[in-house]
Amino acid sequence: MPLALLPWPASVTVVEGPPLRTAPGSRREIADRLADRAELTFAEGHGFEGYLLLVSANGVRVETSTQAGAFYARQTLAQLIEFDEQGPLLPAVEIRDAPRFAYRGLMLDVVRHFHPVETVEAVIDRAASLKLNALHLHLTDDQGWRLQLRSHPELAEHGSGSELGGGPGGSYTLEDWRRIVDYAATRHMIVVPEFDLPGHTHAVGLSHPELVADPVITDEVRRAAEESGGGLPEAGSPYTGTAVGFSSLRRDAEGLEDLLRDVLGEIAAATPGPYLHFGGDEALGTDPADFGAVVKLAAGIVAENGKTPIAWHEASAADLPRGSVAQYWGFRTPGNEQAERARAFVERGGRLILSPADAIYLDMKYDAETRIGLTWADGPTSVERSYAWDPAAVIPDVPESAILGVEACLWSETVADLADIDTLMFPRVGSAAEAGWSAPAGTEQRTWESFRERVAGLGPAWAEAAIAFHRSPEIDWR
Ligand code: ACM
Repeated sequence: MPLALLPWPASVTVVEGPPLRTAPGSRREIADRLADRAELTFAEGHGFEGYLLLVSANGVRVETSTQAGAFYARQTLAQLIEFDEQGPLLPAVEIRDAPRFAYRGLMLDVVRHFHPVETVEAVIDRAASLKLNALHLHLTDDQGWRLQLRSHPELAEHGSGSELGGGPGGSYTLEDWRRIVDYAATRHMIVVPEFDLPGHTHAVGLSHPELVADPVITDEVRRAAEESGGGLPEAGSPYTGTAVGFSSLRRDAEGLEDLLRDVLGEIAAATPGPYLHFGGDEALGTDPADFGAVVKLAAGIVAENGKTPIAWHEASAADLPRGSVAQYWGFRTPGNEQAERARAFVERGGRLILSPADAIYLDMKYDAETRIGLTWADGPTSVERSYAWDPAAVIPDVPESAILGVEACLWSETVADLADIDTLMFPRVGSAAEAGWSAPAGTEQRTWESFRERVAGLGPAWAEAAIAFHRSPEIDWR
């Protein structure tokens, strides 16, 4: 039985000798106490997030080059805590660790259902415990605009008062935003804000009808309205259905460039992290030439504001600044055209974040019986399927150096509260964490058999942390 470590570290050696015994308490208390008393040495050579962790009967030693490395050593220490008749113990081990990829993200959609700051903080805690280091917040979509900006307060004033399912919606103040960013920083996470454009912009039209084209009602939009309710989108009325792809900014509208400069400039200034996501997905109602022009404009503004642009993969064929990042959300096996576009983007100096939808779109059901969730990504996504892929194998012939990292995405059409988030996130977020941090699939402990045993071993810790994880029958829970 492997130690219940997730993501699996670069190197784990179980050392001969008695375990470390310690006083009773909750896992969190024990981990904090041991980490606070640990012998901590800052030394060269561990990289930006790596660490050496030594546990023996005498205590804990940590060597690292950064505060982030010390933080990750602490997360590993917490996972080492076991209990027997005599109380808590940690096995004697030597762990050398560092991540495979620099970017390890989780996206939360706060539009389809709004999630308050406390929920976002709880999500940050959960993500950081698995060594994820980026929280991507999807802040705007057809159903709402969730951030109150000084430059354009009308966007949230008119665009945030509803959500799917008839709830009241909501929005963050800039003070809330600061609180989220600061909380994330204490857990060594950056926040990546997303304003989605030029599609997914129906809510912009509630305060700026001159900037948004009339909804394009396709058969697909009608089908979504029939299946999921919410009616058909109408210009000037809040939209609370699940259809996508019907809205578009108008490229030639007077005032569009000024608004983009204002809102992207303001969120760039309010966000310390290096990235700004401007969407670019599913602009099905946008003329291709207009799409290319608006995407190029937005990416240029992001870069002028000192941030690296990130966009969903549809935007990667456009003329983006060198070094931009495309977030791939196709399936684990892309079509030829999709793969070719990604390769061409990399050849022009672009980098990729991998979010294969049929593996780590956490909003998919686990199986037909799952209480919440969707199924469009090739049916339900079992825990095993979420695990069975490798980031370097998705887009053939792309060098690993062009892969910035991995991001699990949690869209919130069916996700109303923290318990819903937990159910869809755990245990599958562990698959994304391991894909982002650990050695390639197939190497030591990077197997489904090992993963499912380690997840089973973490169940008691997740229960103690009040995480409402899905007790998938694929796992032999303790
Ligand atoms: C997406 O799922 N539309 C990025």
